[in-house]
Amino acid sequence: MQSIVSDTVGSVVSDVTNVIVPVPRKPLSKRAAFLMFAKRILYKLINFLKTTNWKSAKTWIVSAMIARALYVAMNEYGWNPFKKIFKDDHVFLTGAGGGIGRLVAIRLGKMGCKLSLSDINMAALEETKQVLINEGIPAASINIFTCDVSKRVSITEAAL
Ligand SMILES: NC(=O)c1ccc[n+]([C@@H]2O[C@H](COP(=O)([O-])OP(=O)(O)OC[C@H]3O[C@@H](n4cnc5c(N)ncnc54)[C@H](O)[C@@H]3O)[C@@H](O)[C@H]2O)c1
Repeated sequence: MQSIVSDTVGSVVSDVTNVIVPVPRKPLSKRAAFLMFAKRILYKLINFLKTTNWKSAKTWIVSAMIARALYVAMNEYGWNPFKKIFKDDHVFLTGAGGGIGRLVAIRLGKMGCKLSLSDINMAALEETKQVLINEGIPAASINIFTCDVSKRVSITEAAL
């Protein structure tokens, strides 16, 4: 086999046999790197499926745990294609001054919803707004107003 030896600046020095010349590797593009990574994972998965003893209960339990963890992660990061995406939806929440209402407001705000928050207690609602802003939800997408859900007239006013 014949190969070429080059000096540090890349010019050819001599022709000799059986000398391996380190060729600087071209950096991979992000897409190519991702495809290579995906290919490696796929091979590993195929190998795992081939070599695993599927008659063992332990395998099924571990697989169920991994599947569950993946499902939760997908839901958490919005990668579940079967789940409704709330981004940019407008949400009207009552009782958002505290408790469950405030937690739901934080959750939906982080999902990218526009929030119309109501409560009987305006001071508590102001606090919720501050909490949401501290959580990184833009103030422009939070609208707060009082509404007493025990009074029909108050609900009608809030809806207008
Ligand atoms: N916390 C729980 O574990 C739990 C479990 C099951 C059901 N619930 C029910 O869920 C609801 C909310 O629970 P929570 O723990 O978030 O309560 P919470 O008391 O912490 O919060 C309720 C919020 O609703 C507001 N509110 C009260 N009366 C109102 C009215 N007439 N109009 C508008 N807003 C009003 C309050 O100001 C408060 O901000 C309650 O009805 C509760 O009974 C709670």
